Amino acid sequence: NSSIVVALDGPAASGKGTLARLISDHYGLAYLDTGTLYRGVAWLVMREGGDPADRERAAAAARDYAIEKLSGADIRTKEVGAAASVVAANSEVRAALLDFQRRFAETPPKNAVGAVLDGRDIGTVVCPDATVKFFVTASPKTRAHRRWLELIEARPELQESEIYQDLLERDARDAARDDAPMAAAQDAELLDTTHLSIDAAFAAARRVIDGVF
Ligand code: C5P
Repeated sequence: NSSIVVALDGPAASGKGTLARLISDHYGLAYLDTGTLYRGVAWLVMREGGDPADRERAAAAARDYAIEKLSGADIRTKEVGAAASVVAANSEVRAALLDFQRRFAETPPKNAVGAVLDGRDIGTVVCPDATVKFFVTASPKTRAHRRWLELIEARPELQESEIYQDLLERDARDAARDDAPMAAAQDAELLDTTHLSIDAAFAAARRVIDGVF
């Protein structure tokens, strides 16, 4: 396949989503935030009063997944994030979502020349032949602070310490699962954004990408 693929993996609130969006705009690549798929499945299960840990139910929701079913859904909450990491440890859920992600990368929408995908297993499982791979990290404290800043407007009662605990729990679950755990691909470029502004992180990513394209 001739599509250009940029893979961005890393833990929650590492900055990979922001980078993915900037890369998508700058290089004219279609963008897929693969976390929305797992969040969507978790939301669909919870909306019907189901338990995200119910394997059959989560697998069925993943097989029937369609973006239209999520209209009006607030999938960016921390509760949906936590439930997403529970359904994401379910192999049948992962298998049901794999084809869509691969097709998006191989044949990007809107005739784009390529695609940017961000997630946990893009460089390792979804697109092992990606043109460029990044593993984006930042210290847990920094990530918790960034996520808190994103969430406080809607939920001023949220404590940064609570978000910090949630992130650690979610990272541990994502890194420890048997199927497609969060991991840096061997050929991924490590990008630690702890002390980088968005501009500086984006400049670092461009230097890598421009060296490869
Ligand atoms: O990136 P985001 O926080 O939206 O992802 C939500 C959850 O979805 C993650 O914590 C992870 O469990 C799961 N996920 C995954 N594989 C991906 C993307 C997300 O397992 N490629």
